[in-house]
Amino acid sequence: MGKIVRNIKRPGGFKITDRAISFCEFRKGAKILDIGCGEGATVDYLINKGFEALGVDKNPTNAASQQNLTIGTAETLPFPNSSMDGIMMECSFNLMDNQQEVLKRCFEVLKPTGKLIISVMYARGKTKLENGCCIGRIVPKDEIIQKLETHGFFVKLFEDYSDELKTMWGQMIFDKGAKAFYCGLGLTPEKFKEMKCGYCLIVAQKCS
Ligand SMILES: C[S@@+](CC[C@H](N)C(=O)[O-])C[C@H]1O[C@@H](n2cnc3c(N)ncnc32)[C@H](O)[C@@H]1O
Repeated sequence: MGKIVRNIKRPGGFKITDRAISFCEFRKGAKILDIGCGEGATVDYLINKGFEALGVDKNPTNAASQQNLTIGTAETLPFPNSSMDGIMMECSFNLMDNQQEVLKRCFEVLKPTGKLIISVMYARGKTKLENGCCIGRIVPKDEIIQKLETHGFFVKLFEDYSDELKTMWGQMIFDKGAKAFYCGLGLTPEKFKEMKCGYCLIVAQKCS
């Protein structure tokens, strides 16, 4: 039987995933949960690297009937407290309806030394976006960091990967045309330019 190839729906592909796991120095066998795992590409990738990886996604068409993937929401994570060495959210945190509940639940489910890895779009310009139809919430770096700190995390790493976002969106415009791109985002080109959307990797740890 051929190898199953699962779709990745985020900028940077595994380059950013690799950077995050090497920064966190997880031991082999570490338990890592991918929230908003989509079709489970990162879960497969982590298992092949020797980690015990699990995925959860609210969309049943993504997370249905695959081993190690569960249907559920980030706000109500169906995993025991203090059970994970790492939690990742790759291009999914900005789409979550109740980020306060998500961070509260992540804090509970992580072990005391657990790491929270978020790769996410953020606003580098004058305006932000509270509810863009398919890209969700795009807010400045300081606002994301403050949210994490309010929920008991301290940020150990912040790195910019906006070039990876440009590459991904450039390809989308090339494939679908600029008009279809802006309509899909629910934004005018002017508003979009003002927001100066970027992409970043954040690694945070629970404050002791
Ligand atoms: C842009 S896709 C990214 C998928 C995958 N992480 C990747 O990089 O290919 C965002 C995913 O987050 C999931 N998602 C959004 N809100 C969620 C929530 N509150 N709880 C769980 N999953 C959620 C969506 O169903 C979708 O599969």
